[in-house]
Amino acid sequence: MMRNESPTPKVTFDENDFLTAASAGLKQSPRSIPPKFFYDARGSQLFDQICATPEYYPTRTETAILERYGAQMAGQIGASCVLIELGSGSASKTPLLLRHLSDDAIYVPIDICEPHLLHSTARLQTLFPQMVMRPLCADYTQLSALELRGNPAQRQVIFFPGSTIGNYAPDEAVQLLKQASQWVGADGGLLIGVDSKKLPERLNAAYNDAAGHTAAFNLNLLVRMQRELGAQLDTDSFSHYAFYNPTLGRIEMHLVSRYYQTIRLGEASFVFEAGETIHSENSYKYTAHEFEQLALAAGWHLKTTWSDAEGLFNVHYLSRSPAEPRHLLRFDTP
Ligand code: AVJ
Repeated sequence: MMRNESPTPKVTFDENDFLTAASAGLKQSPRSIPPKFFYDARGSQLFDQICATPEYYPTRTETAILERYGAQMAGQIGASCVLIELGSGSASKTPLLLRHLSDDAIYVPIDICEPHLLHSTARLQTLFPQMVMRPLCADYTQLSALELRGNPAQRQVIFFPGSTIGNYAPDEAVQLLKQASQWVGADGGLLIGVDSKKLPERLNAAYNDAAGHTAAFNLNLLVRMQRELGAQLDTDSFSHYAFYNPTLGRIEMHLVSRYYQTIRLGEASFVFEAGETIHSENSYKYTAHEFEQLALAAGWHLKTTWSDAEGLFNVHYLSRSPAEPRHLLRFDTP
């Protein structure tokens, strides 16, 4: 059981959210559906399988960085903080940080997928029985500072690993980071994992794993539309398509219609020519310098960057104060 006895506070979202978003997205040109809808129970499970593939380097690289530098990160975060994890999912990397925090730290995992959230919090609670944990089932983009308020005397630090920030267009990312700075207040911090720019071959392989887990993850969006929204479509009539666009610095993931067809969703029908797509995800990649500039536009000052020997992935610590000491770019030495 959670040490904190109260039941999971649930932020209610509109039940029709998926239907509304999917219908609106299919009416647009180009067609798109927001990537947050990937993460039902099956999608979250498929994402964990992606993370275990040899091609998908971000998870294992970020894990190695946290293993090696977790103590330094906790040192910068400081004692007795409230650590708020955005989109915690299976929270598999979190222990690498929690084990270095003081016993009076409070952990607040936030995730849209309740079974995943409760299961992973229960697992963390057995690893850290002394720590107070307050899981929050919510879409973190919809949160107000009020819903997050823990003990206002404790410093709040946002933990946003996994390069999820890459799912947002740069202007949206600035908005989200501005929002995050309002949640935590003036003495707050941000520890964030960001995938770096690199050669297209490497990126293309990471989003086209040979075992087909990324394809299944992408196509699960259509399975979910069938099951939850009664969409009339044949999931075999679409294929997974993902590629790196070096000009925009992003992976684009699409569901491509294999032939001319009409699909039905709610009251509406949508005609697809062969090759027409539903754009299902962007995953932006940033150099350390690019990310520093982006975060600065949101009022965050870069303090430290930890990376792996190849520079595949960066973990940044930022604060709202420009005055604190700055230790920039501590690369791992092989
Ligand atoms: C969880 C958003 C960081 O963009 O790499 C993995 C999701 N999509 N493979 C990413 C994802 C396809 C992932 N993020």
